[in-house]
This record gives sequence, structure tokens and C-alpha cells, in this order.
Amino acid sequence: MSIIYDAAHRIFKLDAGESSYLLQVGAHNYLFHLYYGAHISDTDISYLTFHCPHAAFSPKQDAADTFNPDVIAFECPGNGCSDFRGSAITVQNADGNTATDFRYVSHRIYAGKPAIRGLPATYAAEDEADTLEILCRDAATGVETLLFYTAFRGISAITRHARVINSAERGVVLRRAMSTAVDFHTANGMDLICLYGEHNNECRFARSPLTHARTEVFSKRGASSHMHNPFLALCSANATEEEGEVWGFNLVYSGNFSASANLDTVGGARVLMGINPEDFAWRLDAGESFDTPEAVMVYSDRGLGEMSRTYHRLYRHHLCRGKWKTAKRPILINSWEAAYFNFDDDKLVAFAREAAALGVEMLVMDDGWFGKRNNDKCALGDWVVNEEKLKGGLDSLVRRVNALGMKFGIWFEPEMISPDSDLYRAHPDWALQVPNRGKSIGRHQYVLDMTRADVRDYLFDAMKKVLDSTKIDYIKWDFNRNLTEAGSALLAADRQGEVFHRFVLGLYELLERLLSAYPDLLLESCSGGGGRFDAGMLYYSPQVWASDNTDAMARLDIQYGTSLCYPASTMGAHVSAVPNHATRRTTPFDTRAAVAMAGTFGYELDPCKLSEEEKAAVREQCQNYHRYYPIVHEGELYRLIPPVSGDRNRAAWCHVSADKRQVLATYVVRRFDGQDRHHFRLAGLDPTLRYREEKSGRVLSGDTLMRAGYAVEERLFDGQSRTFLFVAEE
Ligand code: GLA
Repeated sequence: MSIIYDAAHRIFKLDAGESSYLLQVGAHNYLFHLYYGAHISDTDISYLTFHCPHAAFSPKQDAADTFNPDVIAFECPGNGCSDFRGSAITVQNADGNTATDFRYVSHRIYAGKPAIRGLPATYAAEDEADTLEILCRDAATGVETLLFYTAFRGISAITRHARVINSAERGVVLRRAMSTAVDFHTANGMDLICLYGEHNNECRFARSPLTHARTEVFSKRGASSHMHNPFLALCSANATEEEGEVWGFNLVYSGNFSASANLDTVGGARVLMGINPEDFAWRLDAGESFDTPEAVMVYSDRGLGEMSRTYHRLYRHHLCRGKWKTAKRPILINSWEAAYFNFDDDKLVAFAREAAALGVEMLVMDDGWFGKRNNDKCALGDWVVNEEKLKGGLDSLVRRVNALGMKFGIWFEPEMISPDSDLYRAHPDWALQVPNRGKSIGRHQYVLDMTRADVRDYLFDAMKKVLDSTKIDYIKWDFNRNLTEAGSALLAADRQGEVFHRFVLGLYELLERLLSAYPDLLLESCSGGGGRFDAGMLYYSPQVWASDNTDAMARLDIQYGTSLCYPASTMGAHVSAVPNHATRRTTPFDTRAAVAMAGTFGYELDPCKLSEEEKAAVREQCQNYHRYYPIVHEGELYRLIPPVSGDRNRAAWCHVSADKRQVLATYVVRRFDGQDRHHFRLAGLDPTLRYREEKSGRVLSGDTLMRAGYAVEERLFDGQSRTFLFVAEE
């Protein structure tokens, strides 16, 4: 059992991997947070709660209290009752006020981890994790909150979520529902890390000192968004890739979120993460309950690198599921950059024929195969094959592709509707909208009201018709704009504050329904690239297209940031043609492949236009993909020279197989700057093993490679790279 309850001191101790998390039922049955960090041995550390008992301007429940509710570390901070920091849960009660004050009532500890109704979440068997449930009650209203904590036994990860239950007799409105709230006793000198970005420039790494001004990463776009990933970390100021303390927070959610932190007046900090309270108001009638999404907290005392590897392990083994959790992903070729909307069946078969001969395993037909879709101005919603383009129909095309030994994948953008579509002409009320306002248009399209069961039924049936008409192995599930005027025609006025969350619940329901009906389908989620790259989507689609920017130099930054939380096996990365369609930059073919090899790997180009030399390179790259698969997809990532470090002209990383016997290292020069010395230290190797570098035949010990390092004994210019495979000697 990784969770114990010390009844004498009323303290809970959760040990997850190499981390500990302690909380206490304290005075007045408040839940106090005691500690979160590296593993500790003791349980009774309640002395930590003594805190500024006489502070002015800090009202208390009882004048004799030896703690100050204004700065004490709380586990489930309420609202309007002496804690003036951000609340975890705020309920507007039937009297109309928002005072909320949850106190401990009872608890339960058990092996395993419960699922969350209607929401994606990590999962664990009974021998892999333990769960603590704490029931709290707000005495004035009778509203209850059940706090869930799961500690993974072998992984330094703790998950949290909350269920708010209206056990009162009158209805209430949930105004704020955070998934986690963690109060750090000492946060002076810490840094805050987040991932920001935009279309074609996702997951940019930003690190700054944590200050007294609250920093918030958030989305109110209806998707987790390109702009901020639902991730935030605090770290010691000296933390690097492999050293220092890091606390990571990641939300398993694909909609509006908020994650914030700031230093308080006594040097502590509160981290809050959950559904964005803005545009959120959930009516909770008597007897109803509401589940927040899950927050995943990871602690590392070996830097950002170990935080990432912990997330990677957790998400590979306890979030991704179904056949494709372990099945080898096919090397795919996608038609988008090769043809955009301009293709027919013969062109696709020609792509497939060329690509199959080179070792590619699946053809993905991207946007443009349905309705009158010859550009992005129409037809979303009309999921009927365009037989003028695909002469003989879809099944005939798929058979021709399959006959070449290739699997077949198809693109959908289910949540959207074009104003110029038969669907919109029949159901204009199916688009999200609010009364007396126009509908903003994005990429010439509106967003469907996914809160509606009839909309979801239509989508399921339309997709089912396509899927049942032939053999489809893969779906690229796209989402190319964000939500505006987010109102639903079917919801009452006092429920319109539920639309954003209900939209996400509707999306999850449809995904679940589709996967239950077609369990062998491989889903790749996409939102103009990485606009919805989050742990929520990974529960349904084990890979996500990381960015529409396929330029290898830009990808160094994008994939670095994405790798902070998400493993290589989830990161859609393809080799595309040059000059790159997003940046106009030309980079060497082998560098494009080396960078894509750090993700799911595939192609996004016209194979008929490849030179003989390039074809030979593709053949070799495909063979390498199979050789490297256990290292990259099942191994561990070490970022040796992060492209965000002082030297932005270089990057290096390596993947180490689970048994540490194989290492694939890549070194890239982004821009030639006259500095001709190319040196990097490996990491994660077994220091006692001797490794043979494949090309040179040189044999070196793990300790030499990690301490003295390795060197590229060549001059390298703009965009050039070298990849090295090290294999342990018997
Ligand atoms: C989005 C995706 C692209 C492509 C297009 C098709 O932008 O990110 O990969 O599928 O849509 O319209």
C-alpha cells in the first residue's frame, strides 16, 4: 500500500515512486497540506502548520487558533471564509452567496484507481496504485466534496480530482471547480515553466522566476489550445535537464483550463489547476454531482528530464490504451502537403505505389475527399464520399491501396460545419450560437454544438457509414478553429455557463462510442497541428499531430516543448518536402528524417517527386524506423542539449532502450555560427557497459560517453545533423 493513515496524528502519507505527499486533518477539521517533494520517512510533520498565528488582517474561526488561515497550506481551499487566496471550489448556494468552506468528514483508502465518469483519466490495476478518497462537507449548505488522490506505486506521480456532490435540498451553482490545489510552504527562488505558442509554433518553452504577481496559463477557446498547453511546472532555480527539483502539473482535459501560481506574502506558493472558472457556471440540482478533470502531478529531484520521463512512462502505460498502446504504429504517408485538396483516386494510388515500394506502411487520405470539398470554404459536415474525385468509390480506392500491401487512413473534422454544406442548410441550429449576435467565422467554418445528443448521433452515424463501407485502419481527427458565441439552442438560459464543458464531454462521448464500435482503429488527433495536444486526447488517440509546421529546424523547439510532458510515441512527426510549406526553409533530407524519428514518424510529401537518391534514403529511413522503434517508442528520452539553452544553434538528444543496451543519439546544428566543435555528453546509459558506435566501430564505456562525452568529427553547416547508434557489447 502506498498510502497510509496515521490515526494518532490524523495524517495521510502518500508515497508515489520516489516522492511523498502528506496532508493532515487539523484544527476544526480543516484539511492542511503538509508536504510534497522527495520521499521522506516520517509521518508526523504537523509542526509545519504553525504559522503566523497573530498576523493582522487575517480573520480566524477561533481567536485561539495557532495558525493563520490566510497563509496556512490548505488542501481544499474554500472561498470567502478567511483564506483570501484562490479557491479550489466555489459554490454559489441557494441563498445566492459564494462562501464555501469544506471540512473533513471521513475517508477511505483502497488499492487501484477508479475511473471518472465521462472523462478521460489515467488508470491502474490494484497492484499498481492506491487511492485515497476524502469526503469533505460544507456545513452551512450540506454540499459535499469528495477529493480523490491516487499514488502510483512505482512511478513518482500522484493524480487528483474532485467530485462535488449536492447533498443539500436546494440547487446550487458551481462557480469554480479546480482539480488540484497545492500549497508550497517554501517557494522563494523557484522558477515557473510553461508552454506557450500559436499555430505553426506550438509548445514553446518559457521559464521565469515565480513572483508575487499571479501567473496563469489558460485557455478560454474551447480547446486546450496552441496558445498555452495545460501544463505548468515549478522548479528550483538551479534545476537543469538532469538536476534540481521539479514539480510538474498537467491536466487530463481538452477544453478551457486554468493553471496558476504565485508567491504569497510568507514565501509560500499556491498552485491551482482545473477547468477555467471564466465562462463556467454549472447548475447542480439537489442530488446531482460534478466531476472535475484529473490533474497529474509529477515530482522529480533529477531535473526536467526525469519529470518528462515520468510523464512519458505514466502516459504510455497508464493513459494510452487499447490495441495501439503496445502495437507498433505503421509508418504513414499523408496526402496533405503533397496534394492539399487536389487529388483523385489515381493520384492517391500512385502515392501508395511509390511509398509502398520504399517501405511506407499506410496511406492517409487527408482533407478533400467528401462532399464538394475542393477548398476549405465548404462541405464540412457532409461526410459523403465525393465520387467525382474517388472514381469507383472509397472501397475501390481502399482495395487498390491494400493490394499494394498498405493500410488506409482517412481524415475527418467531425466537430465542424461549413455554412456552405447540406448539413448546415438542413440544421442551422446545430452550430453553436447565441441569440441576437452573428456567428464569427474561422477558416470559413462554424463549430457544431457537441453538447447535443442529436448532433453526436448524426456524426456517429455519418462516420459509421464511411467506416462500414470499406476497411479503414486509421482516422485523423481534426479540429480547425476555436469556439466563439458558445451558446446551445437546447440548454436553458441558466445552463449556458455549462456549454464549454459540455462540449468537451460531448466530444469525449463521441470518441468513446467510436472506439467501442471500432476498437482496432488508430486515431491521430489534430487541431491545426498541436492545438489540442493534451493528455485528455491521448486517452482516445495515442498519437497527436504536433504541428502543421514540419520544418525540421522549427520542430526542434516544438518537439522539445512537447516532450516535456508527452512521449515520442504520441508525437506526430513527418518528413516533408522542401522548401518547407510553413517556413520556406530548406533543410537536408537526413535531418528532416532524424527529427521526425523522435516522434511517430511518417511522410508528408509527394513520393512520385523524389529523386532516386532520396528514394534510397527513404528506404533506409524506413528500415531504421523498425530498428530504432524499441529505443524511441519504448525507451527513455534524455535531452542532451536543449535547443532553448543559451546555445540556440545546437540541439542534441538521445533515446535509451529500456534495458539500456541501445542508444540512439542525434546532434543538430540549426545555424552555422563558426563554432566548429561539436561535442555532447550522453545520459541515461549504464556506466559499466561498453557500447560500440555503429559507424566508427569505436567501443567506449557508458561512463566515458556520459562524462567525457562524444564528438562529431566533421564540420557541420546550417541544418546538418548526425545520428549515432550505440549498442552494448555482449
Ligand atoms: C489542419 C491540419 C492539417 C491538414 C489540414 C486539412 O490544418 O493540421 O494537417 O489536415 O487541416 O484541412
